[in-house]
Amino acid sequence: MYILAIVGSPRIDGNTNYLADQALDEAHQLGAETEKIILSQHKLSPCLVHTNCRELDSCAQKDDGSWILDKFCEADAVILATPVYYYDISAWMKIFIDRNWFLNRHRKKCRAKAVGIIVVAGGVGVEDTVNSMNRFVNSSSFNYIPRDKIFTVTGSALDPGDAKTNQQLTREAREMGRQLVASLK
Ligand SMILES: Cc1cc2nc3c(=O)[nH]c(=O)nc-3n(C[C@H](O)[C@H](O)[C@H](O)COP(=O)(O)O)c2cc1C
Repeated sequence: MYILAIVGSPRIDGNTNYLADQALDEAHQLGAETEKIILSQHKLSPCLVHTNCRELDSCAQKDDGSWILDKFCEADAVILATPVYYYDISAWMKIFIDRNWFLNRHRKKCRAKAVGIIVVAGGVGVEDTVNSMNRFVNSSSFNYIPRDKIFTVTGSALDPGDAKTNQQLTREAREMGRQLVASLK
């Protein structure tokens, strides 16, 4: 059981990364193999929309996007974690999503059977951002994921450490880890 978290916040000591860690730690304690990719720590450039994408063996954008997509495809469950930036997902998360166009053109899907969505905002824009994440989960990159296998944690946290001192939010993130493991069994 392999659970991968993709984190769209560049703040390593930030709230999104912390909550992803909590979910992964819980899943790991319950026996899952876990991994986390913080997108900003890798070379990841936007999709260039090559018209011959379909004919290419690998993405023409030669950066870390290809292996990140490979891992994404292999995971039994994925956690997609993003801060709210101007009422929507972060640019890092958007670049990752757009790079999924390569999968679309090659009729490839990730094998995930369950998804965790983590969205953290200072205060506003959570709903729009969760909707954006859900739209991606409904996209061609995924096989159909029933609603009861999509686990969403949202929180209000502005500065690094805010989520950590929020016990309820921390509990919810850990619960997500448990739910993901349970839904894969
Ligand atoms: C570029 C940028 C845009 C932001 N836009 C919003 C916003 O629209 N609504 C909001 O409530 N918070 C907004 N924030 C605050 C972040 O969502 C908040 O600080 C969050 O904790 C960041 O997550 P992190 O700690 O994982 O980096 C913004 C922060 C940045 C850097």
